[in-house]
Amino acid sequence: MGDDLRMAPEQMLELARRTAELLVQRIENLPEEGAWEGEFRRELEDQLLKDPPEDGQPASQVIEQAAHEILPIAMRLDHPRCFGFIPSQPTWPGVLADFMVAGFNINQCSWLTSSGPSQLELVVIDWFRRWLGYPESAGGLLTSGGSAASLDALVTAREAANHPERASVYMSNQSHSALVRAARIVGVRPECIRMIPTDGDFRMDMDALAETVAEDRAAGLSPIAVCANAGTSSSGAVDPLEAMADYCEAQDIWLHVDAAHGGFAIVTEEGKRLLRGIERADSISLDAHKWFFQPYEVGGLMVKDVRTLERAFAVKHDILQDTIWGADHPNFSDRGLQLSRSVRALKIWMSVQTFGMAAFRRAVSNGMALAHRIEEYIKGSPVLEMLTPPTLGIACFRVNPASTDLGEDVLEEINRTVLARVFWEDRAFISSTLLNGTFALRMCVINHTTTWNDVRETLETISRFGTESLPRTD
Ligand SMILES: Cc1ncc(COP(=O)(O)O)c(C=O)c1O
Repeated sequence: MGDDLRMAPEQMLELARRTAELLVQRIENLPEEGAWEGEFRRELEDQLLKDPPEDGQPASQVIEQAAHEILPIAMRLDHPRCFGFIPSQPTWPGVLADFMVAGFNINQCSWLTSSGPSQLELVVIDWFRRWLGYPESAGGLLTSGGSAASLDALVTAREAANHPERASVYMSNQSHSALVRAARIVGVRPECIRMIPTDGDFRMDMDALAETVAEDRAAGLSPIAVCANAGTSSSGAVDPLEAMADYCEAQDIWLHVDAAHGGFAIVTEEGKRLLRGIERADSISLDAHKWFFQPYEVGGLMVKDVRTLERAFAVKHDILQDTIWGADHPNFSDRGLQLSRSVRALKIWMSVQTFGMAAFRRAVSNGMALAHRIEEYIKGSPVLEMLTPPTLGIACFRVNPASTDLGEDVLEEINRTVLARVFWEDRAFISSTLLNGTFALRMCVINHTTTWNDVRETLETISRFGTESLPRTD
């Protein structure tokens, strides 16, 4: 019997070339297309819901179908006018790294199976450590994303706690749902996941935190972690990290910082200032597939004392006894949930080697600079109103002409209409959020290919749609 799943080398090369060609064409054409494409499930089912074929078809045909009929029907998060949620623009070396990693087919669970890639992950983790200002005792691992990193952090916090029974966790009412989910998964009862109010700038209210913890302790709960935001996905707000670190040290509670959105701003001077105090946290979650320009999926968890991570996750298993091979090394599967793991460090390493840190610094700064320009533009606009100070590349604003005195309900309706019109009628994609119940348009401008022209034209469109949506006065 022959091997039906093999391909001849010439064919492999031809298919790889065609795939690369399709990807580069896509990137080149992207700015002329819309930032979003979607289809209803019924239509897609009609097209795609078929039994797997018994006999194969030409591979080139399959690749064309994927490239033209399936993958484009999605949000183009790397479109220069994709401002919704948290966009991302991977570097090409990062994309190629993922291709190479798949081709080398490495399982980076242990040093025995992957010493080169494991060392590379240590290198990248050490870059993160130094950028964050963490001590040499710190370490971590790369994860699928920020959610997985925060989950691993809360497991570590629980295992480090003296009394993890009746555990409670604290975070602000601006925290990402990923943190709530992580707390649930580690077994914290829903009523013990405490959402603390925030101040006028959407930062943790420290008095409310202290009161809630004191009440919970009196009621017999065991606070295992306080989670800080750096920054929130709604408005980019950064919690008072220094004050939270002081408080957690005094109270002997694990401080976790969710820096999935804002963490990589630390490579810039503005980011360092905004994130001052982050180095005092017990753990920090990051997302390189956001503001470090990598293809999905790659996040990271950094822990101030890496031994706490290994104490929480290392489990001996007979079938893996040979993985002690090699001197003085970590097995990354002893630092988190996954045993089989791909080589996530390669994309970060290849991108940084190719472009250098100066380019990364400029790319991250570009996002913050654009958000500041949005504020300037809106301050000079008769139609738009800024709702939060632009922070970490996020600007929240709304249509609210200074010349009118519209009620909140009317304003919400107008802004929902504007959002829907941008969605259906414009190349750009923006999303919305609620800021203490107020409906806000939100632009996240962290794509390194986004120019001021992309942003300005989108703001002009929003202003025009806003003006057209105002109640008629005649
Ligand atoms: C602040 C924050 N935390 C956590 C997450 C979850 O990260 P991921 O989607 O990589 O799991 C996100 C993602 O949008 C985020 O912005």
